[in-house]
Amino acid sequence: MIKAIRGTRDLLPPDTALWNFVETTARAVFREYNFQEIRTPIFEATELFARGVGEDTDIVSKEMYTFEDRSRAESDKGQSLTLRPENTAGVVRAYIEHNLWDRGLNKLYYIGPQFRRERPQKGRYRQFYQIGAEVIGPTTAGSESPARDAEVLEMLATLLNRLGIQGWTLQLNSVGCANDRPRYVEALREALRPVVGQMCVDCRRRAETNPLRVLDCKVPEDQPIIEKLPRMKDYLDESCRQHFAEVQKILNTAGVPYSLNDRLVRGLDYYTRTAFEFTHGALGAQNAILGGGRYDGLSEAIGGPKAPGIGFAIGEDRLVLSLTEAAETVAPKPDAYIAPLGPGMNAEAVKLARDLRRAGAIVEVGDETFRLKKSLETASKLGTRYAIILGENEAKSNEFALKNLATGQQQTVPRGELAAKLRA
Ligand code: HAM
Repeated sequence: MIKAIRGTRDLLPPDTALWNFVETTARAVFREYNFQEIRTPIFEATELFARGVGEDTDIVSKEMYTFEDRSRAESDKGQSLTLRPENTAGVVRAYIEHNLWDRGLNKLYYIGPQFRRERPQKGRYRQFYQIGAEVIGPTTAGSESPARDAEVLEMLATLLNRLGIQGWTLQLNSVGCANDRPRYVEALREALRPVVGQMCVDCRRRAETNPLRVLDCKVPEDQPIIEKLPRMKDYLDESCRQHFAEVQKILNTAGVPYSLNDRLVRGLDYYTRTAFEFTHGALGAQNAILGGGRYDGLSEAIGGPKAPGIGFAIGEDRLVLSLTEAAETVAPKPDAYIAPLGPGMNAEAVKLARDLRRAGAIVEVGDETFRLKKSLETASKLGTRYAIILGENEAKSNEFALKNLATGQQQTVPRGELAAKLRA
């Protein structure tokens, strides 16, 4: 028996109705904030992620699904391709490639699968889904403004509230910029040197490759050491400090609650200034339902013009896990099962089903060779509320036996009144 690959999964009904509910709500909220949808390819040149996300990140160094193109054509022979591990680099690539700002496009959203070879567990998969959005543009479009950061965060709070998700926390930090971060990283290295020998293996490696990631360590024994390390907020230059203060001021005015977390560093290298995550208590170890931040140098890193930006990606798998809504409430059962009885009745059933569906009912149809008992059993199995019995007499008289499958009650209803009865 061939099974789904480890870390991938089938999304089945009725859960898919929850996924649709989330996506429909997200699309509606995004439109209110003037975001439009973009769909970029599932695979891209490996170099895009190496340069965009960063060679030293876990994502690029160990988690990507990378393969060589086996094409025979000279133009793409041996090209290294990668299933996208995230969508921001792809969106910024498309922004540059199509000069999107020339068309007045600077707010884009996407919904789709991403791929990372992580160790699968609850809330962590190798194919997972993100709902994300990016605001990107030249400085003249205001893309650098702290107002954009605040608008994106306020939109996220609105979306989570509209989905009925309670108990989320917005964790906020500023990770500085190309001007002040090197000084901070140097200070971190310095402070780590005498103590790193007492830390976990990962920290020892990160202290060398990417000292910022040490702040992300979850090993309990390391925490007292990390608490004493220098903090980014003491190293922010004046413009980063002001930018961050302004983001907070707008959030306060807009009534968006947040908590400052100066250990929030994120796992992708492109971040500058504002970085954030929304966490949810009920999710356990994988508690980040979404993450994002500003990436003022990403466009240049992949060969584009200066185009500051900010965005986020929601882990849709995790978001769905944190919904309290039951799938059944957003996945309505069929209203009626039409049971055609006897030769010629399939054709009548098609007509009746079409009329009822046009009137908004969800309708299932049996088969004229079924005995009534079998039809009613099938209807019950499907969870249908009513069965409509359609034999030769009914077709002639245009009056149908409508059976409530929960109570067993049956009544005769003229064709014109059927749809209204189903709705009642
Ligand atoms: P990220 O933090 O790597 O950021 O991913 C965003 C969210 O995707 C996470 O908070 C989590 O909910 C979900 N996620 C990540 N990996 C997995 C996984 N293996 N299984 C299930 N869910 C997962 C980014 O991807 C950035 N591109 C976000 C961004 C957009 N920053 C700026 N613009």
